[in-house]
Amino acid sequence: MGPLSAPHCTQHITWKGLLLTASLLNCWNPPTTAQVTIEAQPPKVSAGKDVLLLVHNLPQNLAGYIWYKGQIMDLYHYITSYVVDGQTIIYGPAYSGRETVYSNASLLIQNVTREDAGSYTLHIIKRGDRTRGVTGYFTFTLYHGPDLPRIYPSFTYYRSGENLDLSCFADSNPPAQYSWTVNGKFQLLGQKLSIPQITTKHNGLYVCSVRNSATGKESSTSMTVKVSGPCHGDLTGSHS
Ligand SMILES: *[C@@H]1O[C@H](CO)[C@@H](O)[C@H](O)[C@H]1NC(C)=O
Ligand SMILES: *[C@@H]1O[C@H](CO)[C@@H](O)[C@H](O)[C@H]1NC(C)=O
Repeated sequence: MGPLSAPHCTQHITWKGLLLTASLLNCWNPPTTAQVTIEAQPPKVSAGKDVLLLVHNLPQNLAGYIWYKGQIMDLYHYITSYVVDGQTIIYGPAYSGRETVYSNASLLIQNVTREDAGSYTLHIIKRGDRTRGVTGYFTFTLYHGPDLPRIYPSFTYYRSGENLDLSCFADSNPPAQYSWTVNGKFQLLGQKLSIPQITTKHNGLYVCSVRNSATGKESSTSMTVKVSGPCHGDLTGSHS
């Protein structure tokens, strides 16, 4: 509120009755200075889906809007803009071909990728005011994965009596649920598989399976474990 709006306020507060509250609200929170907010819908999305950046409390009498990727408002981060006069849409260097700006300033991003996650800035240009703008930003979480899991360590040869300690990792958001099977039999839930003092009966195919409950996707990797006996000869071998 500039100095011009002050007399307008005092005039209203002297009025009696129910109008007082409404007038006070008008003075303290006139529509033109209400907080502009940006809401991502949905706030969490999976790769390949669409997200709409809804702009609330857009001021009246605007000349246009500019959307930037990130929080830096320079040409490099310029995605797209909307010029109210002539309803013109202009594209900038950060435009990926998947963004659509609407006349109400909302921005639709289609087929989102991991790189789209992060903050966006909306620059609102008021009429007759070329320098000042209102900005807001938001961050969205992108569900992704799980990627193909990897098993560590990757070597496959063990000696009898050694400890087998395998870890599985797959990039995923939210984190993946892990499970292990050995020779087709379920072994355990969890990222790590530890078997102390393995013997040749632990030979076989070890499979780490991962699942992301948000994306509903699954993936798995297998590894063959070969355990050699304590001796390579048959000198001390027990006879069955
Ligand atoms: C802006 O326009 C889009 C597309 O027509 C619509 O989906 C969205 O709800 C509108 N936003 C607001 C805040 O009204
Ligand atoms: C979505 O994006 C992926 C990779 O960025 C691309 O392969 C796919 O064709 C796109 N799908 C649509 C419907 O645009």
